[in-house]
Amino acid sequence: MYAQMIESSGTSNRDEMTPEEAAFQDRIDAGEKIEPRDWMPDGYRETLIRQIGQHAHSEIVGQLPEGNWITRAPTLERKLILLAKVQDEAGHGLYLYCAAETLGVSRDDLTERLLDGRMKYSSIFNYPTLTWADIGAVGWLVDQAAIMNQVPLQRCSYGPYSRAMIRICKEESFHQRQGFDIMIKMARGTGEQKRMAQDALNRFWYPALMMFGPPDGDSVHSARSMAWRIKMNTNDELRQKFVDDVVPQAEFLGLTIPDGTLAWNEERGHHDFADPDWSEFHDVLRGNGPCNRERLEARRKAWDEGRWVREGMLAHARKKETAKIAAE
Ligand code: 3HC
Repeated sequence: MYAQMIESSGTSNRDEMTPEEAAFQDRIDAGEKIEPRDWMPDGYRETLIRQIGQHAHSEIVGQLPEGNWITRAPTLERKLILLAKVQDEAGHGLYLYCAAETLGVSRDDLTERLLDGRMKYSSIFNYPTLTWADIGAVGWLVDQAAIMNQVPLQRCSYGPYSRAMIRICKEESFHQRQGFDIMIKMARGTGEQKRMAQDALNRFWYPALMMFGPPDGDSVHSARSMAWRIKMNTNDELRQKFVDDVVPQAEFLGLTIPDGTLAWNEERGHHDFADPDWSEFHDVLRGNGPCNRERLEARRKAWDEGRWVREGMLAHARKKETAKIAAE
């Protein structure tokens, strides 16, 4: 599939490359890391800004559905763990904004692009977290899907992004485990708790599958991004890997994946499963998911109300810089 996509997009056609582009592609093919001061094609830079920026926004917006439960976590211990997790997500967003800044775009610019609709964040965060079991399902499924996508990105070609991924993946593994731990408690709890766990799985299953992006045939960026090693796997490859990993976990929990067609396919060595409703995915991307407006409104409010903090900190930094120059 990958070879087919590359061929059809013509990205590996060296005849069409300038000598600089060909030398750049050689470095990528040899597994070298590209660093911020290295020459890079404009398209490579723009693709990275789009992907890293979108990823950073996802980490920050992803705090909202979980933050919603900090004051309602069932025990003090669960509350502390959730607080730590939400703080981790803020940290991930900041590493990623820093990685994007090395490409010559400012954090302010990225945020403005998000707020005026030029940039996206992950579709998954437009779904609400209605019960405590949803916090378990988010950790178990959403963080697991994120890890599935991000572990390969530790080997991506852009140095600052790949290094940010190493740290982020370590923390995401903890997040996945805390989600699974909540699911174990709920699935083995009272009848009502088990019902909540099943309901959370029912609502998050298809949105989690959508996180990997559209089917390969509809993925506009995969071929170029994979040739540049900005993306290491196709959307469908990762989605399949996710399903194969999650099925035995659901069995362990005694929960049922809400897909009547789900079955092990001996010949393929993988599970067959039903596609999500792709019209719903595109509708969410157009801004019509259950929580799109609420999420963007929260980001806009934080951006507007935080202006005085940003300005104060900048003024302080400038004052320190001026004093340092004067002392030299
Ligand atoms: N949500 C929102 N938009 C999505 C999407 C999703 N789940 N999947 C695809 N899209 C968008 C793409 O951005 C693109 O739109 P654009 O041209 O306006 O940017 C369009 O749909 C076509 O999709 P493609 O497959 O061609 O796009 P990509 O090649 O960029 O692949 C991706 C999409 C797999 C998400 C890729 O960008 C990627 O690997 N990104 C890095 C990882 C990332 O962003 N993860 C966010 C997950 S959440 C998270 O990490 C938080 C954690 O705390 C849980």
